[in-house]
Amino acid sequence: SDLDKGAYPFYMLKEVDEQPAVLRRLLQNYQGDDQQFAFEADMMKTLLASDRVYIVACGTSYNAGWIGRSLFEKLAKIPTEVHLASEFAYDLPLLSEKPFFVFLTQSGETADSRQALVKVNELNYPSLTITNVKGSTLSREASFTLLLHAGPEIAVASTKAYTAQITLMAMLADALRAAKGFEASFDMERELSLVASIMESILAEKAEIKAWIDANLMETRNAFYIGRTLDYYVSMEAALKLKEISYIQTEAFAAGELKHGTIALIEEGTPVIALVSEETVGAHTRGNVEEVKARGANAIVISMQDVAREGDTFVIPKVETALSPLVMVVVTQLLAYYTALGRGLDVDKPRNLAKSVTVE
Ligand code: G6P
Repeated sequence: SDLDKGAYPFYMLKEVDEQPAVLRRLLQNYQGDDQQFAFEADMMKTLLASDRVYIVACGTSYNAGWIGRSLFEKLAKIPTEVHLASEFAYDLPLLSEKPFFVFLTQSGETADSRQALVKVNELNYPSLTITNVKGSTLSREASFTLLLHAGPEIAVASTKAYTAQITLMAMLADALRAAKGFEASFDMERELSLVASIMESILAEKAEIKAWIDANLMETRNAFYIGRTLDYYVSMEAALKLKEISYIQTEAFAAGELKHGTIALIEEGTPVIALVSEETVGAHTRGNVEEVKARGANAIVISMQDVAREGDTFVIPKVETALSPLVMVVVTQLLAYYTALGRGLDVDKPRNLAKSVTVE
């Protein structure tokens, strides 16, 4: 059953493995007629009438929010901001005339996010909760709900909820694009199906990834993830995943920003993991990789096929750039998992953390 680990030593690995199936289930559940994704008409109307989307979330859901922002802006041309729930209610941004709020929350119970929703409701603005839990508090209190259909997520470190949130926002952005009459630059349904297959091919390479980790990450006290644009947003999630379950102090940096201070922390052998999924910004990230290598870093490059270069550590088959986070993140989830496993830690129950935090 969903609540059974089966042959898996930890829920986290089971949940990482479930991602292609979750993605396909989402495609099926939101499939409408005539090649369009189907979303509640009332919600679409409200969204289309708004002039700005405000995404509000915590933790991994917040990290997914940055990918959502890119999808809403690039595909549907809707200005979008991302906010930390714990800050939002206390330092309300200057809102646009017709704001629409999107709450990303796996559990639907996070107190910080709920506090922000209470504020939004006081102001009488429309909201959408994207959650994995039907009937959850944030789902009941928002104007609209979209379910992630990811199945219960038991491991404290969130994995399949992150990729489900991104998939759902990609479908929603595509539906908004179509409703606004903009031409599609790619076939979302076909590309998402391709993403599911490529996730599977990455998951088939676990042994190779594990071997690499044993040789590179087992002894380190700290590590860095770097990338630009989408790769930077994935870096934020990759760093959170590695630090929360392996206790290696890991930070994500926009690759270009490293030289403005953080490069002082690079020592002989410090792991710097660079994500390179796109040509233009990727070339600049590679320049930053050379800078840290010159200072002794153990540089690791995870790249996408058409922009890969000789010597890259992992090369992922090509997917549409806008959807690259869905596959890049899988490698980083496995990196975190095998590092924690190798260190003999309780992967599913890291110290000091809770699956759902119901205090502010
Ligand atoms: C907790 C969990 C995180 C999660 C965050 C937000 O801190 O440990 O993994 O990302 O809450 O949870 P939510 O259910 O709102 O997505």
